[in-house]
This record gives sequence, C-alpha cells and structure tokens, in this order.
Amino acid sequence: MSLRKAARAYIASSGVGDRCKLLADDFFESVPGNADAYLLKAVLHDWYDPEATRILKTIRAAGRDDSLLLIIEQIIEPPNQGPEGKFSDLNMLVAAGGRERTRAEWDDLLRAGGFELRRVHPAHSVAVLEAAAI
Ligand SMILES: C[S@@+](CC[C@H](N)C(=O)[O-])C[C@H]1O[C@@H](n2cnc3c(N)ncnc32)[C@H](O)[C@@H]1O
Repeated sequence: MSLRKAARAYIASSGVGDRCKLLADDFFESVPGNADAYLLKAVLHDWYDPEATRILKTIRAAGRDDSLLLIIEQIIEPPNQGPEGKFSDLNMLVAAGGRERTRAEWDDLLRAGGFELRRVHPAHSVAVLEAAAI
C-alpha cells in the first residue's frame, strides 16, 4: 500500500476523515495558505539553520499575520541538565544531518524565518513552541 493510501486509511479509521484534507507538498516550495495554525512535529530538527529557515519562510509567506505556528521539538537544556536533547542532537548529526536547539537558538531561528517565539509549553521529553508572525 502506498504511503498516501495508508495515510488515508489511518485518518478514516481514526474517525476524523470528514474534517481532514490530505495534501502533498514540498515545504521548501509551498504549504497550504490562510491557515489558523501550522504544526511542525519533529520536522525542523532534520535540518540545519539555512534549510530550516527556508521552511519557516514558506510558512510565513503562506500564512496570515495572525496564523499560529506550533512546533513540537526538543529543547536542549543547559550543561549537565536533561541528557535527552543532547543525545538526540548527536543522533540528528549522524543520522539526518540536522540538529536539536537551545531556547536561544529557537529564538534566533524563528526570528530569521519571520516569527517570534511567544511561549514554550513543556510536554514530557519534548516541548510545544508557540510562535507568531513578526
Ligand atoms: C522526522 S519525520 C516527522 C514526521 C511526523 N511529523 C512525526 O513526528 O512522526 C520528517 C517528515 O518530514 C517530511 N519531509 C521531508 N522533506 C519534506 C519536504 N521537502 N516537504 C514536505 N515534507 C517533507 C518527511 O516526509 C517526514 O514525514
């Protein structure tokens, strides 16, 4: 079964098929426009800053000034705290050519992509970063 068919079947079996639209796109080129919110989970950590900035700029260009951007990712903690983010950073380095980021690095990356980090909601080993357009 193709990934697209599998995704359709999973969405239908989850009972949310009537309020989901499945779209294929290249996030370096375009994403659906005019959304209330955009959600990226475990996407930006696959990329170094230049590519991650391009993804954010695509979303910024497609979204409205009041669109919300939600990012679910790790946040690297200060030295000698929270080993998970550091191990994942190493894993992203060798496996994906990407990286985890500190709170300050998320601030900088989001700003470069046209967003401002508003709030961070800790959620177990990851965090939900809430950003708004600048
Ligand atoms: C690490 S996976 C995360 C998937 C999912 N969000 C999750 O948390 O399980 C990264 C995702 O980025 C998608 N991706 C990679 N390059 C892409 C591109 N140029 N445009 C759109 N999606 C892309 C991959 O297909 C993959 O689904």
